[in-house]
Amino acid sequence: MDNRYPFVLPPLPYAYDALEPDLDARLLRYHHDKHFGAAVDNLNALLAPYPVYQSWTLRELCLNWAQLPDEIAPDVRNNAGSVFNHTLYFERLHPLPPSAPSAPLEGAITRTFGGMDGLYKAMKGVALSVFGSGWAVLAVGRDGNLTILKTKNQDTVLPLEPVLCCDMWEHAYYLQYQNRRKEYFNAWWRLIDWPNATNSCKERINGLPAISYV
Ligand SMILES: [Fe+2]
Repeated sequence: MDNRYPFVLPPLPYAYDALEPDLDARLLRYHHDKHFGAAVDNLNALLAPYPVYQSWTLRELCLNWAQLPDEIAPDVRNNAGSVFNHTLYFERLHPLPPSAPSAPLEGAITRTFGGMDGLYKAMKGVALSVFGSGWAVLAVGRDGNLTILKTKNQDTVLPLEPVLCCDMWEHAYYLQYQNRRKEYFNAWWRLIDWPNATNSCKERINGLPAISYV
């Protein structure tokens, strides 16, 4: 996430229909191309008149948006957060069959949640408790411990490192699932790209020096 202005919408890392029947092509086209794409466009438009901030990385914008001029700070917070969260959301899904975390993530899940079933129940509980628009995020701290957090709107969990981001905005599921949020969550859970998620956090969980965020 060290990309900078001008930001580019990352292509979907699989075909639009690759996640069917769990997430169908129509839903993915709207979610990725329209909603995610709009956040990329908005972020670029916000920063275009401010060359001094165009060198900031996406992480820096998410972490330090409050230091920006008042006229753009709230919108940069929302749109940079959206780009960050959506990038992780789409890149950490993959077509069936389901995968499984590899060590060391599996060990950390067992230590914290008692196993995969414990993580599933905890993550589902947090996701379904999101009121309005927000995210349920499995994250790892600088100490290597896992935690599940709920964020409002497009806020990120930075400076914690997100491992999995479950989008609980209505736009993430309503075209296919309407009000059936439990079914959407279960679909998302089946599609998690666990090898990719493991790679995202193995250094932290192994207790190696903390990753630099900026
Ligand atoms: Fe979304």
